[in-house]
Amino acid sequence: MKILLFLIKIVASKVFVIGFFECIMRIILILNELIIIYKTLLKGLIMMKNFFHYLGSVDQDLKFLLVLAVTISSMTATSVLANEVNVYSARKGYLIQPLVDAFQNQTDIKVNVISGKAKVLQKRIKQEGKNTRADVLLTVDAGNLFNAKKDGLLRRINSSKLNYLIPGYLRDDEGYWYGLSIRSRVIMYNPEKVKPSELSTYEDLGSKKWSNRICIRSSSNIYNQSLLASIISHNGEIEAEKWAKSVKNNFSKDPKGNDRTQMTSVVLGECDITVANTYYLGKWIASEKDNERKYAEKISVFFPNQADRGAHINISGAAVMKYSKNYKNAITFLEFLASDEAQKLYAQANHEYPIRDNIPVSDIVNSWGFPFKKDTLNLDELGINNSKAVMIFDRIGWK
Ligand SMILES: [Fe+2]
Repeated sequence: MKILLFLIKIVASKVFVIGFFECIMRIILILNELIIIYKTLLKGLIMMKNFFHYLGSVDQDLKFLLVLAVTISSMTATSVLANEVNVYSARKGYLIQPLVDAFQNQTDIKVNVISGKAKVLQKRIKQEGKNTRADVLLTVDAGNLFNAKKDGLLRRINSSKLNYLIPGYLRDDEGYWYGLSIRSRVIMYNPEKVKPSELSTYEDLGSKKWSNRICIRSSSNIYNQSLLASIISHNGEIEAEKWAKSVKNNFSKDPKGNDRTQMTSVVLGECDITVANTYYLGKWIASEKDNERKYAEKISVFFPNQADRGAHINISGAAVMKYSKNYKNAITFLEFLASDEAQKLYAQANHEYPIRDNIPVSDIVNSWGFPFKKDTLNLDELGINNSKAVMIFDRIGWK
């Protein structure tokens, strides 16, 4: 028994001694790590001090470049490390924010939005090249997305979810861009001057009965370019040119201003008919301004070509940038925007149409007549025919 107790004491003391030494060793290792960190920090501080000292002795231009280089490096490092997605958006902030909030609530991905005009953002992405922070481009009109693809700004997306959620005609065949909301470019008319029974098709706007009664925005606008591009696809270039010329001959005034300017002209009796995107009327109906709500009461919507191909539609859509640093987050964001939840918010916020018929439209949109027959021409065609449309407008003198 005594021998057994003796042996236990020896083993226990050895375990204690070993444990004690192990503990000491660990403390030494931790201290060593702390010394290394301290030395590194000290080196960094000395380098910073020398850097700022050096800045004091260089000229202003060089100083600016150095500060810029340090800023860009730190921003790049931050963007690589952070769980985020950077969105360059041609859509207004108030349209995007509810979607951004909903997405951030569901994921741990932070969304940074930079807003601007469609053309300006595309130019900026081009200039930034590989250093761009943009992961996603949100913009309007399939023509703009087609051009971004043509300019080599976009990265192909391989998402079976997006392909399932977004109908084929509303997205690029090769997966470079996706439509996220639908807008229709329709005939708007003064119901005191025009009966709906007199209206029928886009083609009919060239008939003599509309002489001196049509006003429409300039041909430099992509919405009209895309409308003509769709007519080229359906009727051929020669017929499309004849149509543009006959419509131009029916103008009551030279094209000036945006869609809302033309709608105002209809209300004020400067013309009887215009062609405009439906959501502009939606904005007037829901406006806080009395005059806009009053104007809205004096204008009606007509969906053309319901007996044949359907009314011309376009999209607002999104694409992932070629040099995206957060590619997976970008796709996750796009998949969210195509989801039922986001579609309800997306289309209602701007009185647009959802990309799937199972999503309800707003009461205002519903009041114009829903569903209507949409032209399901593949929207790639709008980009493919864009330059032909621009040349036709130039040739026939549609300013
Ligand atoms: Fe617009």
